[in-house]
Amino acid sequence: MEVEIKTIKVTIDNITIDVAPGTTILNAARQIGGDVTPPAMCYYSKLEGSGGKCRTCLVEVAAGSTADPRPMPKLVASCRTGVMDGMIVKNITSEKVTDARNGVVEFLLLNHPLDCPICDQAGECHLQDLGYEHGKEGTRYEFARRTFKKEDIGPYIQLHMTRCILCYRCTYVADQITDKRVHGIVDRGDHAAISTYISKAIDNDFSGNMIDVCPVGALTDKTFRFKNRVWFTKPVDAHRNCTTPSCCGKATLWLRGEEVFRVTARKDEWGEVQSYDGKPGWICNTCRFETKKTESWTIEGVTKISRHSVIGLNKYQTLEMPKETVKEVMNGIEPKLLMDIHSVSGVNNPKVHLSEIEGPAKSSDFKN
Ligand code: SF4
Ligand code: FES
Repeated sequence: MEVEIKTIKVTIDNITIDVAPGTTILNAARQIGGDVTPPAMCYYSKLEGSGGKCRTCLVEVAAGSTADPRPMPKLVASCRTGVMDGMIVKNITSEKVTDARNGVVEFLLLNHPLDCPICDQAGECHLQDLGYEHGKEGTRYEFARRTFKKEDIGPYIQLHMTRCILCYRCTYVADQITDKRVHGIVDRGDHAAISTYISKAIDNDFSGNMIDVCPVGALTDKTFRFKNRVWFTKPVDAHRNCTTPSCCGKATLWLRGEEVFRVTARKDEWGEVQSYDGKPGWICNTCRFETKKTESWTIEGVTKISRHSVIGLNKYQTLEMPKETVKEVMNGIEPKLLMDIHSVSGVNNPKVHLSEIEGPAKSSDFKN
């Protein structure tokens, strides 16, 4: 007997979609795609328990459900809030959300150094993207920023704690996909830090995946550090018959000519590792750090980049433009920059010749 799956309706930024019960607002927005999707710095769909730490995914709930259409009094973390039937959510259509997100980004940048020009994560950093979209050109913070010494945690990974935003993703990776976790967040508040505590090396076949989930440049690949900028390299999809149990053997090689500069897991449009047969495609340290010859891999073709990213630059052949949703959700209103100036301002009257006006032009010059 066929079981009927009941779906529920949710409207996000004027777009209505049917989703399965139990879906979070963030995942419902991901099903719509494009700009409607809130950013997520700590949530990672492949890591159980992630989310609820960074607050970048805040949204406004304008109506809770059909049964109780009252708005929620505060903005909610979309990665941790489930949808209800008839819920109305605002993300890019809410001024409150934009304002709150500006504030969250300001907080995230209080201690984060603006060292993108020398950071290996530049070009693929989610905080860099957020900084461009919501950051201010100055800071109001007057105190000394907290700084930490760089720490080698194992032979392949360097921890640059000064850049960490305490999203907890790397601790979930260690907990859920390696056989033992030797690092975590120690201390509280402004002193909180990722550490191995007694300077233990992280030595595990899957530890490299912590680099892939880190949304900033706090965990970097020591075999790639300072070797190249990611936008100068060409990503290709490749696979090999890896014998490490649980390694999917599918990776992205970052090439310059024939040289393999870096190997990473393959990422999806949300910057998360791709899934194969319903399982996340984590790769082992042998594939990532020790297999850097093209002949060890079967190359499938150039990686398709579906996020707005400098990595997509100059690779016109395979660039996939993300879906454009701004016009759709703003009730068809074109962005202001594209307004015809003649129809909205008398100042640009083509019958008035500015060069014939004595002195600077005044509003009275355009009246007749
Ligand atoms: S090191 Fe990276 S992944 Fe780990 S908590 Fe800090 S920002 Fe998150
Ligand atoms: S992504 Fe929701 S709180 Fe961080």
